[in-house]
Amino acid sequence: MTHDRTFRRWICAVCAALSLGFSALDTAAREPGKLANVMILATGGTIAGSGATSTTTVGYTAATVGVARLIEAVPELKAAANVKGEQVFQIASENMNNDYWLKLAKRVNELLKQDDVDGIVITHGTDTIEETAYFLNLTVKSRKPVVIVGAMRPSTAISADGPINLYNATILAGSDAAVGKGVLVVLNDQINGARDVTKTNTANTDTFRSWELGFLGYMQNNQPYFYRQSTRKHTADTEFDVTNLDKLPDVDIVYGYANMNRIAVDAFVAAGDKGLVHAGVGDGSLARPAVEPALVEARKKGVVIVRSSRVGNGIVARNGEAKDDELDFVVSDTLNPQKARILLMLALTKTSDAKEIQRMFYTY
Ligand code: SIN
Repeated sequence: MTHDRTFRRWICAVCAALSLGFSALDTAAREPGKLANVMILATGGTIAGSGATSTTTVGYTAATVGVARLIEAVPELKAAANVKGEQVFQIASENMNNDYWLKLAKRVNELLKQDDVDGIVITHGTDTIEETAYFLNLTVKSRKPVVIVGAMRPSTAISADGPINLYNATILAGSDAAVGKGVLVVLNDQINGARDVTKTNTANTDTFRSWELGFLGYMQNNQPYFYRQSTRKHTADTEFDVTNLDKLPDVDIVYGYANMNRIAVDAFVAAGDKGLVHAGVGDGSLARPAVEPALVEARKKGVVIVRSSRVGNGIVARNGEAKDDELDFVVSDTLNPQKARILLMLALTKTSDAKEIQRMFYTY
């Protein structure tokens, strides 16, 4: 961005803030020439992992390196932003849970209220990065940039991807271009939106895809380049607020496959789940007579049922492969099962009315 454009944007943001009565800093506009203040929140993962040798790229230990060392390892960050680090927790992301999410969302919201924080980078394991990104996309109450970053190779590996990914994430979190875009995931020079991104390869550095809907843009030579944006509401525009929550409703996922039975559905219902996501075959299809009757019984007991699909692309059609209106089921639209679970948990903090929850699935 040129000096001129930055200056014009800063003046516009200040005028808008004065006339609309909100903090100019919520737009992340800064005085020209000033570096952005970016907070790096570390949570663990391979980006903070270490292996036995420099050629160890699988079978290493995730979440061993602290935030101070992650920052020290990339001296270029000093020219990218005024960075500060905080270790929020230190886990391999397969151990992510609702409690960590609530803690993280609350900390992000606290920090983004501060005038001296322009954007946030979260370092995270790649295994559940897409879930944390979507959770924050629905619960962060700010338009300031929040960028989640990970790495596929541990910090000790030859050609570790963590340092360049962290550098790109910091540039992005401090950029005007990322304001109001929702939570972003950056790896491998690609910017993905939280709603659509998913991990697609167990080990390759080029693993994140937003499949048919596409990623949002590139990081190149110290600059973000955006080409598209999700039409779905996020962050400051959602109805979800976790400020006073210390627990989320129990929701689990039941995976569909040939020769499926109802054991998992019944077990989750008996355990007290408030919602179930069915990762169906094809267009969210349910096995009959093995599984659909179990879901119908669960719904009659008050459990909210979301039909998603294990396929990975496409819309699960309402009243397509099941009589959703009649059975009072919800469809996940294009959300994959793990993200449908997140939206269902948050929806259940507001209502257990399936029609209202269906509206949310078409909104977010
Ligand atoms: C993890 O998700 O914590 C381990 C794998 C990774 O970060 O790539």
